[in-house]
Amino acid sequence: MIDLTTSYLGKILCSPLVCSSSPLCEDVDQLRRMEDAGAGAVVLPSLFEEQIRREGLDLDQFLEQNTNSYAEAVSYFPDMNSYNLGPDGYLEHVRQAKKALAIPVIGSLNGSTPGGWTEYAGLIEQAGADALELNVYYLPTDPERCAADIERQYDELVRAVKSCVSIPIAVKLSPFFTAPVELARRLAAAGADALVLFNRFYQPDFDLEALEVVPSLHLSHPSELLLRLHWTAILCGAVSADLAITGGVHSGLDALKAMMAGARVAMLTSALLKHGVDHLKKVRAEMAHWMEEHDYASVRLMQGSMSLRYVADPGAYQRANYMRVLRSYALRGEAP
Ligand SMILES: Cc1cc2nc3c(=O)[nH]c(=O)nc-3n(C[C@H](O)[C@H](O)[C@H](O)COP(=O)(O)O)c2cc1C
Repeated sequence: MIDLTTSYLGKILCSPLVCSSSPLCEDVDQLRRMEDAGAGAVVLPSLFEEQIRREGLDLDQFLEQNTNSYAEAVSYFPDMNSYNLGPDGYLEHVRQAKKALAIPVIGSLNGSTPGGWTEYAGLIEQAGADALELNVYYLPTDPERCAADIERQYDELVRAVKSCVSIPIAVKLSPFFTAPVELARRLAAAGADALVLFNRFYQPDFDLEALEVVPSLHLSHPSELLLRLHWTAILCGAVSADLAITGGVHSGLDALKAMMAGARVAMLTSALLKHGVDHLKKVRAEMAHWMEEHDYASVRLMQGSMSLRYVADPGAYQRANYMRVLRSYALRGEAP
């Protein structure tokens, strides 16, 4: 009997396959199907800092009726009230999800700056969430701000959210840091119980006819998993927080690689948007089949087995590998 259980954010999950934050998780019926298909936990769609701040503006309007500044300010956020259910709808969604599911329900906040909005984390906990994921989506476009300053902001944000809740928190990070291992340790010290690697940044495209910058969202490709495997393998054992991989997990083999790198859970969104929620059954079956064939009795036994700490050749993750990789291409003889 293959044991797929894992531990994540202080809970024992029946499976390491977690449905990451996406519009699929906005619908309670879909959440039930995720549980039925073998998800170990679900992450609800994010509520955004801007939405919560805007609710603060609504409050201000109450207090300062007849000022024009309010109308001007909210015009920047045209549909913020209803996006991802809006702040009130969000709490109700957490309650409904908890009522409908036996697996853990993880709420999600998306923001980048400390402030009163982080207190909303406490409301998500009160609504019944088992844990909270904080997606720090910050784009460092200000030429006056140095890396240390920005990283301090991450630290403050994690401390602020942590101080509002007693449930565990996970921090979803970007891959773009100068010293990711040091930052990971700092965030764990600030209260991050898990790190979710990595956010996908959605780069805008150019419409050459209209000469406009336009949004573009492509679902992920399995090749995006490699960046996550690399850094999970490096962080495994170097940081006290649990590690989760999001980005490029499409198959059972992808999920197995995530486990071997050191992740406690492998998250899926693109594959489910592409193939439907029942794709989880296939991924789960593929994992179990491979484990059976290779005599692995449990997921926990394989977690971290290919990490920097345990791999036979640590150079594979370090600079030494760079020349090897370049040379391996030259030796293939593919040049015309
Ligand atoms: C349409 C869409 C909506 C998403 N919404 C959120 C969100 O609200 N909050 C969040 O943290 N991540 C969000 N994500 C990111 C996913 O949770 C996930 O991290 C990312 O898609 C990478 O995983 P994948 O390769 O399995 O798709 C969204 C992704 C997609 C495609």
